Amino acid sequence: MSAQQDYADCPQNFLPHSTEAMMHSTINGLYDQFKGNIVGSLANYIPELSKVAPNQFGIALTNSQGKTVTIGDATSPFTIQSISKAITFCMLLERVGRQETYRYVGVQPSAEPFNAITLNPLSNIPFNPMVNTGAIAVAGRLRQIFGPRAFGEVLNVFSLAAGRTLDVDEQVFQSERETGHRNRAIGHLLRAVGIFDVPVDEVLDLYFRQCSIQVTAIDLSIMASTFANLGVNPVTGREVFDLDSVRDTLSTMFTCGMYDGAGDWSCKVGLPAKSGVGGGILAVVNRQLGIGVFSPRLDSVGNSVRGQLCCAALSQELGLHAFDMSNMGSSFLQAMSARR
Ligand code: DON
Repeated sequence: MSAQQDYADCPQNFLPHSTEAMMHSTINGLYDQFKGNIVGSLANYIPELSKVAPNQFGIALTNSQGKTVTIGDATSPFTIQSISKAITFCMLLERVGRQETYRYVGVQPSAEPFNAITLNPLSNIPFNPMVNTGAIAVAGRLRQIFGPRAFGEVLNVFSLAAGRTLDVDEQVFQSERETGHRNRAIGHLLRAVGIFDVPVDEVLDLYFRQCSIQVTAIDLSIMASTFANLGVNPVTGREVFDLDSVRDTLSTMFTCGMYDGAGDWSCKVGLPAKSGVGGGILAVVNRQLGIGVFSPRLDSVGNSVRGQLCCAALSQELGLHAFDMSNMGSSFLQAMSARR
């Protein structure tokens, strides 16, 4: 079933009229502001990605009540790529717990490109799960835990987070599988330092497949709203992740999700987010909103140019930055001070 048909079947998930009008005018404004911007270029180190129509542009927002508004190419399919890293990290945390997870991957920003072949010299494990070394370590652990059914487990969790059955873009998968020599080097490095002891090719197949899962901007917004809604998909009402795993995943997205652009992002946008070279950005407004943007022209560090502009403008316009004055912090502390 196509993405369009899927969404056409669930009109009840779109916002009631008045809120819908407000949210629509916000994303209409963003769309108009940035639609003429064709700065940046497609990722071409995965040959199949260089065939994507470069000027596609879609935005979707899903709130914590599971209501969605969209504009532009919000139902166009593209591959999730590195955004998958946040979800597989959350899966590993949930499956084996924090202590065991952090034996194999750290949570330190690396300030290096996403495909750097480096380990943290202090710990000899990957810096964090958002760069390729860390994500391949996570894939290795998942392959070790689940065996050959690992990809089925991954696809199932991604589908639960999106609220519909997702699938793989086989062409992109084969394209990266044939050309991903750098990632293979990373796989062998991780195998050598004992991060996993299953065959490297099987781990890489899992990693390339998870990156090739096809999504839309709507899917990203619903996945993001699942994180925002403490692990429960607000559209389907199903629990996808546990609370502690969501907390660690969002923290790591906040500090590491935008690679060597992460510091700029945290000041300008102030939201946990993850980008992918397919052109997607997923951003999370804790307890409130999931944001999905698709625009495949990328900047020099591999982040969607219009995706970043949209998230920054949205954060500014609606006061979404984690440290904005509108963010009141802990309601527990507020309740305690009200008592005194
Ligand atoms: O491993 C790779 O190179 C790709 N499958 C994913 C990279 C990616 O999306 C980086 N993000 N901006």
